[in-house]
Amino acid sequence: MEIKVFKNYQEMSEGVAKLIINQVINNPQSTLGLATGSTPIGLYQQLIKDHVENGTSYKNVRTFNLDEYIGLSKDHNQSYFYFMKEQLFNHIDISLDNVFIPDGGTHDVEAECDAYNQKLSQSPIDIQILGIGTNGHIGFNEPGTPFDSVTQKVELVEGTRKDNARFFDSMDEVPTHAISMGIKNILDANVVILLASGKNKADAIKTMVEAKPHVDCPASALQNHPHVIVYVDEEAASKLSK
Ligand code: F6R
Repeated sequence: MEIKVFKNYQEMSEGVAKLIINQVINNPQSTLGLATGSTPIGLYQQLIKDHVENGTSYKNVRTFNLDEYIGLSKDHNQSYFYFMKEQLFNHIDISLDNVFIPDGGTHDVEAECDAYNQKLSQSPIDIQILGIGTNGHIGFNEPGTPFDSVTQKVELVEGTRKDNARFFDSMDEVPTHAISMGIKNILDANVVILLASGKNKADAIKTMVEAKPHVDCPASALQNHPHVIVYVDEEAASKLSK
């Protein structure tokens, strides 16, 4: 695991944006794995800025998102599909035909998961972007998820629902379940970039990097991947031993 420590969130976001932009310029048909949550917003802003100023094109780029809440349709303003449109897709020249996000509004969750796994196997991810939960989750793979899991229905733990309640009017509205890419799908990506910012991520980062890989910290599975780069700010890196 390579660890890159940046002074602050802005510099971290600029650093990872450079890597993604280079990837897209070098391979305009790249497949990117994307995440939602607060952490990648700065990255998405940099990609939009570069698209506007330098014309980097996403016309032939495909994207796969990690997860989606079950019970929210695509046009619900808290769905991850809506989030991705607002934060990135509406502002670059990507075709929505090339955008893949599990459909949380489906009546047949199992079929949706199978179809997503199938699509992922046909379109290997060049670079997967990840955030990390305060409990070490990646995607919505909560502690205890086997490292060989693939896209499936998952139950969100109370802590994750609380962490995400800030986006909803009340705790009652936070969904209890999601469809999430599994840890194996994430490990199948060619390159994995994990982003973390702020003191509240410092424990999760330390465990991910320094503890023996264990299902108690899903992100520690990344130690088994040959090409992981961790982009962190100083606060998130503050508990690392060296
Ligand atoms: C989002 C996702 C989650 C988040 C994680 C961190 O698609 O899969 O694993 O990356 O919960 O969220 P933030 O960035 O809001 O702290």
